[in-house]
Amino acid sequence: MSSAPNRDQILYDEFVSRLQTRPSLMAVAPGRVNLIGEHTDYNDGFVLPVALDRDVRVLFNPRQNRRVRLYAVEFDAWAEFDLDDLTFSEEHFWSNYVKGMAWSLAERGLRLIGIEGIISGNVPRGSGLSSSAALEVACAKAFMAAANQLDALPGEQIAKAAQRAENAFVGVNCGIMDQFISTLGAEGHALLIDCRSLEYQLVPFPTGAALVIGNTKASRSLANSAYNERRAQCEEGVRILQSVLPGISALRDVSSAQLEVHKDLLPSIIYRRCRHVVTENERVQSTVDALSRGDLAEVGRLMAASHASLRNDYEVSSDALDAMVSAMSSAEGCFGARLTGAGFGGCAVALVKRGQEGAVRDAIFEQYAKAMNIWPEVYISTPSAGAHILALD
Ligand code: GLA
Repeated sequence: MSSAPNRDQILYDEFVSRLQTRPSLMAVAPGRVNLIGEHTDYNDGFVLPVALDRDVRVLFNPRQNRRVRLYAVEFDAWAEFDLDDLTFSEEHFWSNYVKGMAWSLAERGLRLIGIEGIISGNVPRGSGLSSSAALEVACAKAFMAAANQLDALPGEQIAKAAQRAENAFVGVNCGIMDQFISTLGAEGHALLIDCRSLEYQLVPFPTGAALVIGNTKASRSLANSAYNERRAQCEEGVRILQSVLPGISALRDVSSAQLEVHKDLLPSIIYRRCRHVVTENERVQSTVDALSRGDLAEVGRLMAASHASLRNDYEVSSDALDAMVSAMSSAEGCFGARLTGAGFGGCAVALVKRGQEGAVRDAIFEQYAKAMNIWPEVYISTPSAGAHILALD
């Protein structure tokens, strides 16, 4: 029986044929799926993501100068630039994540050197599984390893630097969750992150459960502007509530009991946005408790409640996401399902009894495809390791 060459071999061969030499190092950084805690990170709150077994890889050699030369396999394109001249590229958008990362590491005092190599990823792009964060973090690791500075920054600070690259260089106003889990995820675990203090705690993922991710393949065109609008609405909520709760600086500081007491101060849409964030933070804590008791039925109920809150109060779901969640939830063995990531399209995640992944997948292909007339993709995943460097020789 002949076996197909594996991804490692394909990438190695691609490197050799593109660069006429062998790579010495590979940086790997995973995409993520968020179990619960949506739109809480930029409110200083709590999130509970998992690193996926899908990642971005940079195979590279350090250079003796400050030039960077990288080939992006999926775009079939080269980008070449100097570390002393980091300018935004309209032509090769992907290269801005690489440049932005170099820029923000330099801002933190790291003296980098050039690299040459290839980049390839199997995190679906533009689907809410954080392919951008994976690219940033893989580049961070590659630059740090090339400069012999792998220990120069702790993981939390690598994540911060990657977020800064995305906010200030690429121009996307994301929170810290995606870069944090890509950097610090661990096999077999979810990660509880306090997005204010950046303290984190590994939470064992139940051995009797699996993750099924349904990609709606529906467009997310609204995502950027609506994301910024939601952030502004949360800030407005905080400003109004500060008149009666002067100690608060973010929605993280508000309990649902306090929100109910002061409800009448808030315009109704702002109240509903705040109610989502405040109750979602509480659901993250309850999910961690339920996981520690092994109560997966309760975790599933909390996921369903999160989706309802994102749909009704935060209004970031879509027909496609609702159809996906309903297909998943109807299947035997599904504890619960919800949209994951920013929303408006992209993916939903289901927590499923191990052994029942196929039933959930079948339900998605039958029901979702019929309801939306779109052919979805399904990924069955297990919690995987965060970013790391591998020596290739
Ligand atoms: C996107 C952002 C994250 C987070 C989620 C919503 O994935 O990149 O920082 O805000 O949306 O939870």
